[in-house]
Amino acid sequence: MPAELTVDLDEIPKSVAIRKVLGGREIALFRMGDEVFAIDAVCPHRRGPLDSGDLDEEGIVTCPWHGWRFDIRTGKSPTHPGQVLTYPVRREGGRVIVSIGS
Ligand code: FES
Repeated sequence: MPAELTVDLDEIPKSVAIRKVLGGREIALFRMGDEVFAIDAVCPHRRGPLDSGDLDEEGIVTCPWHGWRFDIRTGKSPTHPGQVLTYPVRREGGRVIVSIGS
């Protein structure tokens, strides 16, 4: 079933992600400049919290538990076989809208 989540851009810090629940899924919202990316917050390795991981300048987040890395734009890992889902994000003024299942 389609679902949407709206947050103010100002709610998302530039240095750390925020975690939200959308349609029963844990979603991590990352901000790079004024762009926002949404991925699963749960690491596919052993369910570590990707929203607590470090984000580098190239958009790669490192899971804080065992170091698997994921590109927040594609969900793909440059170093491991795992992948996380990504979700469409659109902006309406200062609001960020994430949708799933549409
Ligand atoms: S739980 Fe994320 S790398 Fe192990």
